[in-house]
Amino acid sequence: MTELHPLTVAERLSPVACAAAKARGKRVSVLTAYDYPGARLLEEAGVDWLLVGDSLGMVVLGYPDTTHVTLADMAHHTAAAARGLTRTPLIADLPIGTYDDDAAAIQSARVLLAAGAHAVKLEGGVSHANRVAALTGAGIAVMGHIGMLPQSVLLEGGYRIKGRTEDSASALVRDALALEAAGAFALVVELVDSAATQRISEAVRIPTIGIGSGEACDGQVLVTHDLVGAFPWFHPKFVTPAAHVGETIKGAVKNWLQQFE
Ligand code: KIV
Repeated sequence: MTELHPLTVAERLSPVACAAAKARGKRVSVLTAYDYPGARLLEEAGVDWLLVGDSLGMVVLGYPDTTHVTLADMAHHTAAAARGLTRTPLIADLPIGTYDDDAAAIQSARVLLAAGAHAVKLEGGVSHANRVAALTGAGIAVMGHIGMLPQSVLLEGGYRIKGRTEDSASALVRDALALEAAGAFALVVELVDSAATQRISEAVRIPTIGIGSGEACDGQVLVTHDLVGAFPWFHPKFVTPAAHVGETIKGAVKNWLQQFE
């Protein structure tokens, strides 16, 4: 029997490969990574894809939201995470204000690819489908992001569940279909009502990767700090920390400090 040639990382992030994996029932695990040890540990643990999210702004850089993150921040942390990886696809967020037109989007994406990302993610549905098409047309793999869009948190005045009404659920399905048609290989679906999430997941062939949107997704993404309790001052309602890394660090330091008493 002929052996199948294993897909390269780039090929694994193609819409065709991702749709085939979804059709096989593959569930995709995605966690955020922002630096070398974080990325290396998550690869060693076997996470499918890693995301250098602009949640970097909150859980690493100490900003109140993602709107302060710059392209230089993202490139610096993408390069650090990439150095920790040998085989895991790495996706990096295009931060706010870096994809306001097609040329800017392509230029910004190339900065993140040069830093070691295999793909970029941007926020927006129908309104951004042409932007996604420009990127994929330039040969850049794109993950979409619909539902609650953290880069719009100041405009929206908070993080609220989307898709609770028929109109808003239908609009989200249109967003998803537009991004799929534009060539996105997967969609983050953030803080979306679970029935609407199910409609989105059924409407598109590419995988939906949920966060705070229930189980009717083809994969899940979490901010790693929320999962492991490394940012103990805040955790979203939809995550139960599976570890308490913040407490572990404080305990170790307190033990070490005893010698100074
Ligand atoms: O910035 C981020 O970490 C994200 C995920 C939460 C999806 O966009």
